[in-house]
Amino acid sequence: MSDDGGSREPLRLNDGHHLPAIGLGTFGLTGEAGIAAIVSALGLGYRLLDTAVGYGNEWEVGEAVRRSEVPGEDVVVATKIRARDHGYDATRRSIAESRRTLGVDRIGLHLIHWPNPRLDRYVETWQALVAARDEGEVRSIGVSNFTAAHLETLVGETGVVPAVNQVELHPHLPQAAQRAVHERLGIRTQSWSPLGRGRVLLERPEVTRPAERLSASPAQVVLRWHHQLGADPVPKSADPGRQRENLAPVGRLTEAEMDAITGLGRRGGRLWGGDPETTHL
Ligand SMILES: NC(=O)c1ccc[n+]([C@@H]2O[C@H](COP(=O)([O-])OP(=O)(O)OC[C@H]3O[C@@H](n4cnc5c(N)ncnc54)[C@H](OP(=O)(O)O)[C@@H]3O)[C@@H](O)[C@H]2O)c1
Repeated sequence: MSDDGGSREPLRLNDGHHLPAIGLGTFGLTGEAGIAAIVSALGLGYRLLDTAVGYGNEWEVGEAVRRSEVPGEDVVVATKIRARDHGYDATRRSIAESRRTLGVDRIGLHLIHWPNPRLDRYVETWQALVAARDEGEVRSIGVSNFTAAHLETLVGETGVVPAVNQVELHPHLPQAAQRAVHERLGIRTQSWSPLGRGRVLLERPEVTRPAERLSASPAQVVLRWHHQLGADPVPKSADPGRQRENLAPVGRLTEAEMDAITGLGRRGGRLWGGDPETTHL
């Protein structure tokens, strides 16, 4: 890592483009309340919005960008290809539909949401994303929930390394082996459900003790842990106060504090059993 994990400067991807080191998760942010929450986040400084066809809120995300005072070109919107659109032609159609729904000429970051190995079409899906990138419909391309084996297949068959792999990553699932694979291949790790959905995790003493020492909140400590691991979190909050809190940089965690938080990792640490080999989404 080039800094101590405290910087929120955009990070350089393997395709030469930059990506904000933290984004707003938007799952569940729908309707007028969802738009208001996303406009709030943009006003507070978020410049990466994480959506997906499967979240049913691409229109709200696009509308929030239009309503906010932040120029659209300063915002990276990330969206994702769902299972039913795997395959070359269906993916090209899905990209066109997402551009229409979001109201943008070019999508900032487009990911394959899940590998769906049972469908066995993620290589074709990837080839469609590569073509869309080469034709200027999409800026950066990546994947989500891909294991080391899925990445190896993609790179072996196409020679194109994803810029990003967005995986479930939080203290109960620190993903050390997966992060090492990303580092070796030059893939940026993004963390989904980075706060472990915010409940029990934020009350653990391994988190609350450093929070007290740093005069920070438990969520800020967990987000700092992600940054110090070299992973970019996309925490979701509908609340302006918590959105601001999640964006604010805090002091450095010691090695012992990092190890104690990572030590919360456990077998079966997935929040809802989202296994990349079997999840059909
Ligand atoms: N690629 C994938 O397969 C995948 C899968 C799941 C999620 N994701 C992405 O990851 C994003 C985040 O994941 P997530 O929404 O599951 O979980 P999360 O970000 O870990 O946690 C969100 C929960 O934590 C609360 N929260 C947020 N900030 C807080 C704070 N400072 N203090 C206390 N509580 C706080 C939120 O409530 P309030 O809203 O009330 O603040 C919400 O209930 C999603 O929105 C989505 O964009 C991707």
